[in-house]
This record gives sequence, C-alpha cells and structure tokens, in this order.
Amino acid sequence: MSLNKRDFFYITTPIYYINDEPHVGHYYTTTTADILARYHRLIGDDVFFVTGTDENSQKVLQAAEKASMDPVQFTDIMAKKWEKTWKKLNISFDFFIRTTSKEHIQSVEKLLKQCHEKGDIYKKEYEGLYCIGCEKFLTDSDLVDGICPDHKTKPQLLKEENYFFRLSKYQDQLMELMRSGDFALPEARRNEMIEFIKNQLQDISISRATVKWGIPLSIDPTHVVYVWFDALINYISALGYHEDNKKMSQFWPVAIHLVGKDIYRFHTIMWPAMLLSAGVKPPKQVFGHGFFTINGEKISKSLGNVIDPVSLSEKYGIDTIRYFIMREIPFGKDSDFSIPRLEQRYKGDLADDLGNLINRSTNMLNKFSQGMIPEPDKEWHKNDKKSTKVQKDGENLLNFLDKGYARFEFSQILEALWNYIKSINKYIDDTKPWVLKKENRGKELETVLYNIMQSISLICLFLYPIMPIIAQKIYDQINQGEIHKEKYLEKTKWFSLPTKTSVKKGEILFPPLD
Ligand code: MSP
Repeated sequence: MSLNKRDFFYITTPIYYINDEPHVGHYYTTTTADILARYHRLIGDDVFFVTGTDENSQKVLQAAEKASMDPVQFTDIMAKKWEKTWKKLNISFDFFIRTTSKEHIQSVEKLLKQCHEKGDIYKKEYEGLYCIGCEKFLTDSDLVDGICPDHKTKPQLLKEENYFFRLSKYQDQLMELMRSGDFALPEARRNEMIEFIKNQLQDISISRATVKWGIPLSIDPTHVVYVWFDALINYISALGYHEDNKKMSQFWPVAIHLVGKDIYRFHTIMWPAMLLSAGVKPPKQVFGHGFFTINGEKISKSLGNVIDPVSLSEKYGIDTIRYFIMREIPFGKDSDFSIPRLEQRYKGDLADDLGNLINRSTNMLNKFSQGMIPEPDKEWHKNDKKSTKVQKDGENLLNFLDKGYARFEFSQILEALWNYIKSINKYIDDTKPWVLKKENRGKELETVLYNIMQSISLICLFLYPIMPIIAQKIYDQINQGEIHKEKYLEKTKWFSLPTKTSVKKGEILFPPLD
C-alpha cells in the first residue's frame, strides 16, 4: 500500500446466513470492510468491495420451512432484505454475491473439478456430531457437557458416506504460508492456527448425501457440496473465477478477508488448502476480529440477544455507531456492547469535542470574517509556534493514518484524530480570536481563522472513511464540494484550502439525546 501510487484493493466480508436479519455483530464486520473500502477509494486505489449471502445451508432451509416457504422464494426475499439493509446503513459494497447465483455455482463446479483432477477428493464412510448452528462437525473437545457452547444445542449424530478433501496433504504448505509474513492476522490468532496445524490436520468431509438443499456435486449428483466448501468459493466467484475474468488477475492477489474469530480456521486453513489444490494462490490476508458480547455472551440469532443495527442507527445516527464500534474495541479483541458507553462517547467525543469545534469555528468565521475564509499571512504563520504545531500535527496524521489502516488499528486512528480535534479546540482557546478581533490584530486573526478552517478541512478528509455522512456535512458547511471526489494527497496539504469561500453555520451535528 502506498499513498503515492494507485493500487488494486479487494476487501470482503463473510457471506452471511440469511435465516434471520442482520444484527450488530454482522454489522461490525461489514462496517469495517466499508471503512477500508472508503479509505482506499479516497487515496485513489481501485477498490472492489464484496459482501453477500450464504444461502445453501441447512439453517436457511429450516428457516424457509418454518416460514412455510419454498427455499428459493425464501432466499430471494431474504437476500434482498440483507442487501437493502446494508444500503440503508450506507455500506458502499461494489458487488453483492449470492451462493445460489449462476456465477457462483459455476465457480464451485470449476474449483471442485480442479481439486478432483488433482486427486484430492475421495469417498469414505463417516460418523460424527454435526452442529447445524455452526454448520460443521464438532469434536469432543469442542463440546461442553455434550452441548455446543456457541449455540447451546446438542449436535446430531450423523453417519453417512461422504466425499472428503485431502486437507492433510497441505499440512506443510499451510504451515509455511502461516509462518511467512502477514497472511493471518492478528498474530495471537495466527499462533493458535500454527498450533492447530502442528497437531496433524485431518481430511474434511465436503459433501452431504442426506441433504437436498445445496449445490449438487458434479462427480456424484446424489450429494450436495458441504456448505463451507461452497461458501468460501464466493470470494473468487465474485471476481468471475468461472470465466477467467480480468478481475481475478487484478484483485485476487491483493484479497483481504475480514472474518470473525469463529470462522477464522475455515478461512486460514481450509480455504488456502482448497485454493492450493486447485492451483490458485491463497488470498493476501485474513484478519480475524473479536466478538461483541452482551453480558459476556456472544450476540447471536440462536441465543436471541441480538441488537438491530438499523434501529440503533435511527436513534443515534449511522456514523455514531460506526465511531463507537471502531473507537471502543481494538480490532481483534472482544468487548461488551454497552449502550451507556455509546451514549458517553456521543456526548463527550462527538458532541463536546467535534460538534463544539465545528460550531464555535463557523460562528467565529461569521462574526469575525463575514462568513468568508480569510487570506492567511504565511510569514506570520511560519513564525508562530502554535500555528506551525497545528500544521505539523495535521500533516503527521496523514502517514499515521495510512499505517494504521494497513494494520487494522482503527481505534488508534480515532484516538489520534481526536487528539488532533482536541488540540484545535485548545488552539482556539490559546489564540483567542475574539481578543485578536477586539485588539484589531487583523493578520493574526485572519491567519488563525484560516488555520482553524484548514484543520477542519483536514479533519473532514481524515474522518471520512469512518464517518462519511458527518464528514461530508462538515465539508458542506465549509463549502468545499464532495470529499470522495477530492485529490486526497493535495487536499491534505496545509494552505490547500481555498480562501474567500463562504462558510455556513450548519445544523447541530450531534443534538442532545432524549
Ligand atoms: N456463512 C458463514 C460465513 C461464510 S464466509 C465464506 C457465517 N455466517 S454468519 O451469518 O454466521 O456470520 C458470521 C460472521 O458474522 C462472523 O464471522 C462475524 O464476522 C460476524 N459476527 C456474528 N456475530 C458476531 C458478534 N457477536 N460479534 C462480532 N461479529 C460477529 O458464519
């Protein structure tokens, strides 16, 4: 990643089971992907951002049956619902992949054919405990008192003849991949995977004979493809793998998958092995983030403790939720989702720090400069320590943020940005433009006001990926056009803000909560 050159950037979310509606846990992964996509578009990269739905699963079939619907009709309705919800929540995905789509089914067939030709698919009798909630076979060590700890249900005993994938064959290659560079992040989770690989990988079942809902296995259509083997392929079917699309060569080498820790193993072990078998390079990176909990319990549809991101954002604003989830939890860690903490952040960071900065600054511009951005005196600026500090701090943020995004350090990015916002509030307190006005110190007043506006413009650009609506609202108040069309590197230089443009006093950005 480089700020000076245009790169390809491919970011994905897991594809979600659509037996129910999105909750704040799904929203977390999707929003993070959206933030990265927006940042990379802003710095000029060629971005492809994919999300979608995992439809060929037993729980989706069960949900359709419960709703007395045909699964095709049910998945059509639910997939539209998810897509609409993401749009409503301002998620800027470029492509929405469904695993019941033609391009996906063809991609699954193609990849399976490659693995089969490689001799990596074989048939054997298997008996195991299957959890429909996890959509996987569990081992004794996964269970707590015979129960799946995530779904609090008893797994079913299944005995059937299945097709298997020779995962064990890829043991050494996977170990090498895991140990080389930053394929699997964060490090702590990567180390868990290294331990897991050390304990000898078992081949995995990749078909089901008793299930009818799913993609038929071309080598034996009496079986359907196991939902995970099917689902993982979405990441390349979205790029047109089935037809050797140009997108594959541009975007696949830079693919980054964001996933929750629950499905990290599928993505860092099973998926690269499938690709290696089919002669496709593994993705560039997989990041496994932590979980939101409520009173220490995982938020999940099956536990019935979900928080709906739509009603949450209707109450607090979409960008408030984005800010909160990114600021509150270092990406990778677990955390309790707490409404009182959210409200505290809203009042403190958003209303008091950011809202107040914009409000007092636009007020001063209107009072002391007829609502126009004044011409700064660059000589005076150069010799004023407080002003050059504000400039330097702003300029330093550019590289800090770039490194932060490459390391998924969203919380640190926001912390640094908020320190900057606070420092501008302090700059105002220290330079006291109202005194400069009273004492008729024209060029000092004009330069200080200019600097405040320049820093606000910078804050808008820096804030945009995480709070796109709010950043644009502020940019509108200082009348600077559309952020996503700006040339990021040019517009983050000091003195790039044009003078003599008018500043409006806008609506209150963060009104008091009821
Ligand atoms: N369909 C599979 C994924 C296939 S990807 C090839 C699946 N779907 S899911 O609907 O269960 O969504 C799983 C993802 O949602 C998690 O990996 C995680 O990204 C997110 N989350 C679900 N609950 C979550 C929390 N409580 N907290 C944070 N994220 C969580 O698994």
